[in-house]
Amino acid sequence: MQNKSLIILDDHHQERNDGSEDVIQGLTSDPKSIPCRFFYDDRGSQLFEKICDLPEYYPTRIEAWILNQYAAEIAQFTGNCTLVELGSGSSTKTRILLDAYAKNINANYVNSDNVSSCKYLPIDISDGILKTSVLQLQIHYPQLEICGLSGTYDQALTYLASNLEEPQMIFFLGSSMGNFNQQESDHFFQKISQTLKSGDYFLLGVDLQKSPEILEAAYNDSQGVTADFNLNMLAHLNWYFQGNFDLNLFQHQAIYNQAEAQIEMYLHCQQAHTVSLDILNLEIPFRSGESILTEISRKFDLPTIQAQLLAHRLQPLKVWTDPKNWFALILSQA
Ligand code: AVI
Repeated sequence: MQNKSLIILDDHHQERNDGSEDVIQGLTSDPKSIPCRFFYDDRGSQLFEKICDLPEYYPTRIEAWILNQYAAEIAQFTGNCTLVELGSGSSTKTRILLDAYAKNINANYVNSDNVSSCKYLPIDISDGILKTSVLQLQIHYPQLEICGLSGTYDQALTYLASNLEEPQMIFFLGSSMGNFNQQESDHFFQKISQTLKSGDYFLLGVDLQKSPEILEAAYNDSQGVTADFNLNMLAHLNWYFQGNFDLNLFQHQAIYNQAEAQIEMYLHCQQAHTVSLDILNLEIPFRSGESILTEISRKFDLPTIQAQLLAHRLQPLKVWTDPKNWFALILSQA
């Protein structure tokens, strides 16, 4: 692998998919939907950080608790290896893991002449966030070699499959897997399995099934931050595609669909009207009461997700959870 701080994975012949086709497809279907990637402009990313601190939104806190309890055990389990993080974001939780691996390196350094090395490769679609977090982490962890990979998960995993020779652990935290539908999850696991060499590790954070009251409260918080996050998607579309969505004409709601074991986030239209997205040449009629599905957040049960990992030749080795069994970290080996 090249020795750099940031590698941009775009090949210049192929533009990054900007989501136009998915937006057209989603808004011209019945029922309507918008891809959840449109949550994350600058304001959306800030709102998501705020969501993570809300009293009702337990996943971030509980996953951090599990990491705090067991990061040392995870690092012991895998030994020093290259750590690859998918969707690294602001990397607060990552630091708990990096601390544990850095501690191991320091211990090896004191105990032997044979200094083992450890790399951290965060992957994110946003160059800006990635650059800032790589620079901060390089200062904080001088014993780690840190290089950001800017691109989609697909691009990054393809790159790693042919450029990384040393043992690695790919990790995907925050139950972001929950935002993939079954077909996307299958594709994702397949890609992970193709990228890892035999003996490599995959650490996955998953939000577990629990009572609808707790789940719905987490996505309909009392301060209305999740509502702002959901509505901000329309502001993002207005900016990106020169649109005229009126945010006052839509209302946020999240419901738990028990049959599908998923939270569904909607924007409900309050009054019949037409919206245009000029760059897409699109006029979208809305009926009063019509809904746009903006996100699914699947909630898992351990036997099912472990069976899916195994079906993709990822052998679950160990599960760490919290005392209430609300969230789990699953370590699998290729
Ligand atoms: C990023 N993802 C795992 C969050 C979730 O819980 O599904 C996104 C989110 N949507 C509303 N609140 C948080």
